[in-house]
Amino acid sequence: MELTLEEKAALVVGAGFWRSLGIERAGIPALTITDGPHGLRNQEGGGDHLGLGVSVPATCYPPAAGLASSWNPALLERVGIALGDEAREQGVSVVLGPGVNIKRSPLCGRNFEYFSEDPWLTGELGAAWVRGLQSRGVGASLKHFAANNQETDRMTVSAEVDERTLREIYLPAFERIVIREQPWTVMCSYNRVNGVPAAENHWLLTEVLRDEWGFAGLVLSDWGAVDSIVPAIAAGLDLEMPGPQAQSTAALIAAVRSGELDAVALDTAAARVQRLAQLATVSTSSTTVGAESRSTAAHHQLAREAAIESIVLLRNQGDLLPLETAQSIAVIGEFARTPRIQGAGSSQVSPTRVDTALDAISAIAPVEFSPGYTLGRRGDGESLIADAVAVAARSQTVLLFVGLPDGDESEGYDRTHLDLPPAHVRLISAVAAVNPRTVVILTNGGVVSLEPWHDSAAAIVEAWLLGQAGGTALADVLFGRVAPSGRLAESIPYRLQDTPSYLNFPGENDEVRYGEGIFVGYRYYESVELPVRYPFGHGLTYTTFEYSQLEVARGGESATVTVSNTGPRAGREVVQLYVSAPTVGIAVPRRELRAFEKVDLEVGESRRVQLRLDRRAYSHWDTATSGWRVQGGQYTVAVGRSAHNIALSTTVTLPRPKPGPLTMDSRIQEFLDHPVTGPLLSRAAGNAASLEEGGASLLDMVSSMPMRRLLKFPGVGDQLSKIGVLIAVANNPVVRGIARFFGRK
Ligand code: BGC
Repeated sequence: MELTLEEKAALVVGAGFWRSLGIERAGIPALTITDGPHGLRNQEGGGDHLGLGVSVPATCYPPAAGLASSWNPALLERVGIALGDEAREQGVSVVLGPGVNIKRSPLCGRNFEYFSEDPWLTGELGAAWVRGLQSRGVGASLKHFAANNQETDRMTVSAEVDERTLREIYLPAFERIVIREQPWTVMCSYNRVNGVPAAENHWLLTEVLRDEWGFAGLVLSDWGAVDSIVPAIAAGLDLEMPGPQAQSTAALIAAVRSGELDAVALDTAAARVQRLAQLATVSTSSTTVGAESRSTAAHHQLAREAAIESIVLLRNQGDLLPLETAQSIAVIGEFARTPRIQGAGSSQVSPTRVDTALDAISAIAPVEFSPGYTLGRRGDGESLIADAVAVAARSQTVLLFVGLPDGDESEGYDRTHLDLPPAHVRLISAVAAVNPRTVVILTNGGVVSLEPWHDSAAAIVEAWLLGQAGGTALADVLFGRVAPSGRLAESIPYRLQDTPSYLNFPGENDEVRYGEGIFVGYRYYESVELPVRYPFGHGLTYTTFEYSQLEVARGGESATVTVSNTGPRAGREVVQLYVSAPTVGIAVPRRELRAFEKVDLEVGESRRVQLRLDRRAYSHWDTATSGWRVQGGQYTVAVGRSAHNIALSTTVTLPRPKPGPLTMDSRIQEFLDHPVTGPLLSRAAGNAASLEEGGASLLDMVSSMPMRRLLKFPGVGDQLSKIGVLIAVANNPVVRGIARFFGRK
């Protein structure tokens, strides 16, 4: 049924905080949208997007910082499926996630809801989550598109990023997920990208997202991201949220009537809203809710599994962990009793239940508890510390829970430092001084500094924010019921000053320059050989693994390696594959993650693991041609336990792309590399070298000159016609073929 102009203009603006408009006359149902992504935040009726109001209880899984540390796409897919089932039960059609922005700085207040500093890992994990969710007939909303890497001035700041950096770091996760999974929706971000608001950014929303990547779904705005609806619809936005916004609807009607807005643009956006609403209805009625879904207990169990895999064992001196059950244990720290399970803001879920570590540990071993500090108020802890020290001194082992209280990190603002609260640092030093068997267990969404206390803790467990089953999951890992298998999805630096964006974060005057370019996270630390406390990819377990026989297929399309469990227990290894591109002519990071696989290995078991590598694994964004380019040459393919700790490496040589035809604007180097002109020029240069000293360095001096410029020099200019003939001959494919044939001999 044909919609009127008024109906179309109303359809592309939300009808409520969490609803799109339904038009009964035209058979268009309303869509219900809710926040996620680590659980549903279904605020029936009204709502807010700051996490303030209540929502219907839902399973709270670990937020993305935890889930990403699992390095396990299959797990994320299962979480997606479970979320889809809960969404179906609550009548929700679209879940607002996943957030796949890259952790440019550890200070970003929302890092707990983002996956990683690495685009490859982010893309693989995000894709699995979307695949799971959408398999239940519920749509995802890939957010926040794009370059939304800080909370400071998030609604106004312009991310000033060069195209290569966007293409290689900030866009690939979006690209991968769009191409592979076709999320039902993409959410544009609040910020501007190179001066243009994301909501009005035609290049992003139409040229890149739709024309290049083939996105067929709907683009909706982040809540309140649309400043001006007419240019937004013209740029490719389809739905302004939240609504209603009478002035937006009116502005659209006026703009179409006056010709300011092409009617086709509004038709297209309205058709997309209509299609999504109908798709949601069809799939809700045709996909059955999984058998598990009605069982809150089954989802809690999945939350526990997810939490187990999110935990990263950073340090384990003298194999202190896993613990024997027969010993006396001091559990210290309020977080053990009052866990912080998620971050603050729009993603905040009302959990169906919460397991505490204190309860879970007490069920296994005799425990004495001391809070050590209070949550909220600061600096009141000296008597609490004294009590904790007394408890620690009379116990065999201490499990010490410290971390960032709720207000220290949140959506809406960034952190200004990486430190734990001073009272927590004092507590660690005091406790570790009386008990060398101290295990520090960290609660935090964004990375925290482990200085200056790191060396005093015998073991350190990075427990992130673990969702509602984190307490039992921690007990499982600490007592070795399950071996830890998490790996860092982000580097832990020694100092904030070491972080690559340090001098350019969070910017000034509403502009933030991504001055470090592609050198984000470990790409920077490894390239400049700057030590970090723990590198990207690091994580210990209760056994050891060895690698052998790394082989790369001749064309580079896969690598195979044998991994063996050489230790005393079963365990899971994350095989990480890094590629180093040749550095000729372009800046490239020392190494980049290009594939990974998590494998289960029994004691003594060996497995041959094959990792697939696509062309992108060897490509960089070539600004000259505005496209991906494999520059060819020798690449190093390495398998490592982290980005820094490489176990084995080998090389693969890929062909260089065929050079284009020579012209007068080609550089002398291109003439030298050419099969026809190269030998001639080298011979000429050789003669020159014998005539005058320094002939060879003369070549170095002129190699970057275009031929046309070289001809301006005295004595060369009169060669113009000869060079013209030479170029014509060199470009002849037959001549080139013959020269190549003889050149090879
Ligand atoms: C957040 C989004 C969220 C939306 C709706 C915004 O403030 O940036 O991530 O989905 O609110 O709550």
